[in-house]
Amino acid sequence: MKIIEIQGNKPLSGTIKVSGAKNSAVALIPAAILCDEEVVIENIPDISDTYDLFNILEVLNVKKEYDKPILKLDLRNIRNTIVDKDLSSKLRASYYFMGALLGKFKKAVVYFPGGCSIGSRPIDYHIKGFKQMGATVEIENDKYTISAKNLHGANIYLDFESVGATVNLILAATKAEGTTIIHNAAREPEIVNVATFLNSMGAKITGAGTNEIKIIGVKYLKKGQVEVIPDRIETLTYLIIGALVGKNLKIDNIIPAHIQAPLSKLIDIGVDIKQNNNNIIISAKNDYNSTDIKTLVYPGFPTDVAQPFSVLLTQCKGISHVYETIYENRMGHMPYLNKMGANVQYNLKEAKIKGPTKLKGAEVTATDLRAGAALVCAGLKAEGKTVIFDAEHVLRGYGDLETKLTNVGAKIAIKKIK
Ligand code: EPU
Repeated sequence: MKIIEIQGNKPLSGTIKVSGAKNSAVALIPAAILCDEEVVIENIPDISDTYDLFNILEVLNVKKEYDKPILKLDLRNIRNTIVDKDLSSKLRASYYFMGALLGKFKKAVVYFPGGCSIGSRPIDYHIKGFKQMGATVEIENDKYTISAKNLHGANIYLDFESVGATVNLILAATKAEGTTIIHNAAREPEIVNVATFLNSMGAKITGAGTNEIKIIGVKYLKKGQVEVIPDRIETLTYLIIGALVGKNLKIDNIIPAHIQAPLSKLIDIGVDIKQNNNNIIISAKNDYNSTDIKTLVYPGFPTDVAQPFSVLLTQCKGISHVYETIYENRMGHMPYLNKMGANVQYNLKEAKIKGPTKLKGAEVTATDLRAGAALVCAGLKAEGKTVIFDAEHVLRGYGDLETKLTNVGAKIAIKKIK
C-alpha cells in the first residue's frame, strides 16, 4: 500500500503546471485502436490509469513508444483478444475498449467494471446504444461479449448526458455502416478532444461539445495526431490548494473556458485570483464567504471537484452546502474531514459544512480518487502531520503529485508501506 505524508500549513509559491486530462487520455488511448496506421498522442499524463491502459494495449498487440509525455502507437498488427478481468478491473475507462473493439472488429469481449466506488455506476446506456446499432450483447459474470454482423448507424437518445456512453457510442459509430446521431449527448471538453482525434484520422464526427453529435461511419482511418487537453479537475484541485495555502501560486497550462462554473464559485467566496490566458495566480485569504454548490453535467459544477471544494468550504464563514446529483456516494472523505476538525453533517446526497474551522493533521484514508484529492487539500491546510492511506486512488488521477507540490514548497512524501 502507498501512503501520502504531509506536514501541513506551509505557504506554497511558484508554478504548478497542469498535466493532460485523465478523462481525455483514458478515452483517447482506446480510441487510438480504431486507427489502421499509426497515431501520436501528446501530453499524456503520468498517472497509473495510463499504465493500466498500456497493459491492455499490450495484449492487443499494439506497438508502443512512450517518451513522456508523447505516446506513439502502431496499430498495424493489432489483434482482437479478450480484455481480461485483471486488466480491466484496474480502471473504469476499460469500458471504452467495448466501443473501440466493436467498431474495429465488430466484436468485443471485455470484463467490467473497474474504477472508483462512488455508486452503482451502471452502463445500460452504452449497452442499449450498441444494441440499437445492431449488436448483440451477452453479459455473464462481468464478462461482456458484444458482437454485430452488421454494425450500423442509429438514432440514439441518451436518458442522461453520460460522458462514458457518449464516448463509447462515438467509438462504435466511427466505423459503423451509415450515420449515427447521439441525442442528449454529454458536452464535456474531453469528448471534443476524442472527436478531434478521430477526425484527424479521417472520421466524420460533427457536433461534439453540443447535445447532438453526428457520426458518419467510415471504413478506414489513416495516421492521426492529438494533444490531450489540460486536466480541468487537476486545475481546480490546485486552485483550491492555492485558495487554502497559496502565496502567489501560479497554476499554469490551463484553459479557463473549461472551468467557468467552479471558477465563478471561487470568485463568489472571495478568493484572490489573477486570471490570464492560460494561467491563474492565486493567494490564500482568511475571510471567505460561505456558498452552496450543486454538481451538474458540463458546463455545470463538476462532480469530481465537489470533494476537494468541500475542504475549502470548511474555511468559509457560515453554512455552506454541497448537493451531489450525479453519483450515489461521493462523501467518502467527509468522516475524515470531521476527524481533522471540520464541522460537516452529511448524508449520501448532501453535506452541510459549518465554517470556518481549524484543520489539524490526522491519519485518514482515501476511499476513492477525488476523496483522496480532498484529503491532500485538507492535509496541506492542516496544522501538523497528515497520513493518507490507500494513496493509490490519488495516483490514478494526479500525475507527479509529489514533485509538483514539493517544488512549490509543500512538505509531502509518497511512501510504500508493507
Ligand atoms: N449512468 C447510468 N447508465 C449509464 C451511464 C451512466 O445510469 O449507462 C449514470 C451513472 O451511474 C452516473 C451518471 O449517469 O450516475 C453519470 O455517469 P457518466 O456516464 O457521465 O460518468 P462516467 O462516464 O462513468 C466520467 C468520468 C468521471 C466523472 C463523470 C461525470 C471517466 C473515465 N470518468 O464517468 O470521472 O465523474 O464522467 O463527469 O471519464 C473521476 O475522474 O473521478 C471520475 C469519476
